Amino acid sequence: MSDTAFVRPGVPAELADAVRAGFVEAYGAQPTVIGRAPGRVNLIGEHTDYNRGLVLPLALPHATYAAVAPRTDGRVRIASAEEQSDWSGTVDALGPGHVEGWATYVAGVLWAMREDGFDVPGMDVLVHGTVPYGAGLSSSAALECSVAVATCGVLGVEATAEVRRRLIDACIRAETEVAGAPTGGMDQTISLLATAGAALLIDFDDHSSREVPLVLEPAGLALLVTDTRVSHALVDGGYAARRADCETAAAELGLTSLRQATLADLDRLSDERVRRRAKHVVTENDRVTAAGEALAAGDWAAVGTLMRDSHVSMRDDFEISCDELDVAVTTAVEAGAIGARMTGGGFGGSAIALVPLDRLDAVVQAIDLAFAGAAFRAPQHLLAEPGPAAGLAT
Ligand code: GLA
Repeated sequence: MSDTAFVRPGVPAELADAVRAGFVEAYGAQPTVIGRAPGRVNLIGEHTDYNRGLVLPLALPHATYAAVAPRTDGRVRIASAEEQSDWSGTVDALGPGHVEGWATYVAGVLWAMREDGFDVPGMDVLVHGTVPYGAGLSSSAALECSVAVATCGVLGVEATAEVRRRLIDACIRAETEVAGAPTGGMDQTISLLATAGAALLIDFDDHSSREVPLVLEPAGLALLVTDTRVSHALVDGGYAARRADCETAAAELGLTSLRQATLADLDRLSDERVRRRAKHVVTENDRVTAAGEALAAGDWAAVGTLMRDSHVSMRDDFEISCDELDVAVTTAVEAGAIGARMTGGGFGGSAIALVPLDRLDAVVQAIDLAFAGAAFRAPQHLLAEPGPAAGLAT
């Protein structure tokens, strides 16, 4: 289909075998269970989740695998096939302030699950995955959710809809309270609730969600993800500053959240920057609704237009894009994509493009060329096909 060297998701059974072998090497025993959880891309609806708004993400086929085994001595050991620094401690000291670096995402989940009443024992944990790090594709949520479902496996707790809801909350607490990265909850929600073959329209006002079938290949389309390799870190201040502006806007309008705001309301906002931030959120919610309808009607041209409008809104009103993202988006569209936009938290990370299959290689080449011409770091590309939610791997 294509000559491009895409970042492959890997074969689930082979990745489960690899993490099992890594566990045996690290700890000298077999793991009890292996959890698997996907990264995500968001089709549309950015920075709306923490404003009680709408998002339309899908789970990537790229996922993180967590091999775990319980211990009887209350110790916790955390290691990764990708990261150098292991961590070890005890089950009583996993919360805020006890752990540093990437292992906080793992320890934080164990801590938050204990806080929620799960009887989490000491454990050995080894993680390994194919979600690119720091690319705005929710490698952190994939890590959290893989550990959460694996821990349920160790406890013999079935991941029912109600349990998944509790795991989403635990993973969000891990990220916000232990890792210190503000998050609106979209990434953990899609990782734990996704359905293969569909995007999920999530409403963060009442936390309801519904599947929106996303059938790309039979429609002659691919969803290309371009990782700009511009490091994106949610712990940096830009995300929190946008969130603060949104809260300021809602407070000044006398609303609990921007979900209730209309465009007409925004004239009442005194600060020009805050008004633009709020305008992005209000218009983005409308675009998510319209995109859900366009997908249901098979109107890909409309989806493409909404993606392009979304990017302009994030670039000009919300100001979370960067040169590399803008070049990826503009070049993709010029080379034949129906639509393109940055995805995720912004300030780097990834762009997505909806591309006719017969234009895929041309779009990739055009982006690579444009990056080289601008002396940007070479990007990497992957294909997003909506995959399944987190669960136990065999
Ligand atoms: C990050 C956060 C999400 C969401 C997006 C922006 O991925 O983790 O909660 O706010 O940014 O839409």
